[in-house]
This record gives sequence, C-alpha cells and structure tokens, in this order.
Amino acid sequence: MQAAGAEHITWFHSFQFEDGATIKGLRDIEILKAEADAIFSPEISGKTVLDIGAWDGYFSFEAERRGAARVLATDHFCWSGEGWGTKAGFDFVHDRLGSHVETRDVDVGDLPKADLGQFDLVLFLGVFYHLKDPYAGLEAAASMCREHIVVETVTALPLETLPAMRLFPPGELDNDPTNFFAPNIPALEVMLRTFGFNRIEPIPSPASLKHPLRPSSSWRPSRPKANGVYRTIVHGWR
Ligand SMILES: C[S@@+](CC[C@H](N)C(=O)[O-])C[C@H]1O[C@@H](n2cnc3c(N)ncnc32)[C@H](O)[C@@H]1O
Repeated sequence: MQAAGAEHITWFHSFQFEDGATIKGLRDIEILKAEADAIFSPEISGKTVLDIGAWDGYFSFEAERRGAARVLATDHFCWSGEGWGTKAGFDFVHDRLGSHVETRDVDVGDLPKADLGQFDLVLFLGVFYHLKDPYAGLEAAASMCREHIVVETVTALPLETLPAMRLFPPGELDNDPTNFFAPNIPALEVMLRTFGFNRIEPIPSPASLKHPLRPSSSWRPSRPKANGVYRTIVHGWR
C-alpha cells in the first residue's frame, strides 16, 4: 500500500512504515535495510548523529528509530540546489513519523563555516564521489566527528596498493555528470588516518554483490577487475 500523499514526490529512498504503508524510491528498500544494519554497528542508542547529504532522509530517520539522542540531517544539492531531488520527500516522512530529526540546508563545502559542532557518529554516505574536492569534503566531515565516522562510497582501482583515486570523465559513471572521483581503499584509509581515525574497517556494501572484499560461495570469481567499481562502507573510529 503506497503511503497516501507520497505519489506527487519523486523519491530517491524507499520507505516502509509500521502501519504497512510503503514508498517506492530509486533505492531498493531491502538494500537500504541491509546497508543500515552495516552502518549502524555497533548500535547507536543515545548517540548524536550527523547525516551529511541526507536527501529523503532514510538513514536519518533510521538513526532516530534506532534510538539516537539527536539527529541532524544536512543537504543542499538535492534539497534546494541543482540536483533533481527536492526536500519534499524528507519533509513528508518527517511529518508522517512525527520525527524530531533536525535539518540544515548546507552544502558540503560550506560545512566548516556552518559551525554545527561535533557529533558522536557522522554519516558520509554516497557523497564522496560527487565532490570535486572529496579530500576537503571528507576532512570537513571528519572535523565534526567525535568518535565514529561511516563513509559509504564508490571505490575503484581494487588492484592498486598505492593510495589512489580514479577520475571519471563526465557521465562515465552511471551516466551521472556529478560523479567525479572514486578512491581505492588504501586512499580512504590514508585520508581517515590523516583526519585522526586510528581504527578503520572497510566492509563491502550490500549494494555491491560481487565486491572483492567478500569471499562468498554464492558468486565467483573474487578476483577484482582492474577497472571494476565497488560500493564500500568504511567505518573509522578515533
Ligand atoms: C547518492 S545521494 C546519497 C544520499 C544518502 N546519503 C544515501 O546514502 O542514500 C548523494 C547525496 O549527496 C548530496 N551532494 C552533496 N554535494 C553534492 C554534489 N556536489 N553533487 C551531487 N550531490 C551532492 C546530494 O544532495 C545527495 O543527497
């Protein structure tokens, strides 16, 4: 049953409400649920959470549902900027849930001067590869993080052991000209260590079934392709 009133909105995230109503967005609900389990680990009850690039807010509302003490969702590109999205989806779900998630319309590049303070957990999900200056973007996210950061991103160059990033010509990755750089995992590790995280754990995203990090019996081979791209979730702890 589609949630009443949702049909006028173009959705990125999908939602499933406790009364059985659903919203079908571009992102599949089962993958979102699996990602949330991988992201909100260890459990986040009582933590303060910053969700950078929240869009329709699936992960912000999920943080609230899992007992976060405070959640701040930020975005700009898809709320009031050039992106095809709007904030209508976020506001719809916020109202429907009676949510207390706070919002700020602020671009990633403007985070340092926005003075939003620090949070126990910072989510930087699906944002890194959209930035022309991802190093500065991740540095800004890290500066707002007290203990735990989760970065979800497209990663590339899986055979390269030196820290490196791949640059995509406009439109080459998913036909989306806002996709710029995909780092390899060593590059993410170097950045996170430089920004003060000393325990770093990369795990395959549930959205990348053939991720070379996951030795699985259900698919093969686990040898990554040199030009393969894989979605990866990286946890960093101070
Ligand atoms: C792929 S969506 C990810 C949404 C959500 N965090 C998730 O993981 O499902 C990318 C998000 O990055 C934000 N973003 C920030 N800066 C951007 C930029 N320069 N170009 C494109 N998207 C940008 C978008 O507004 C959007 O919310």
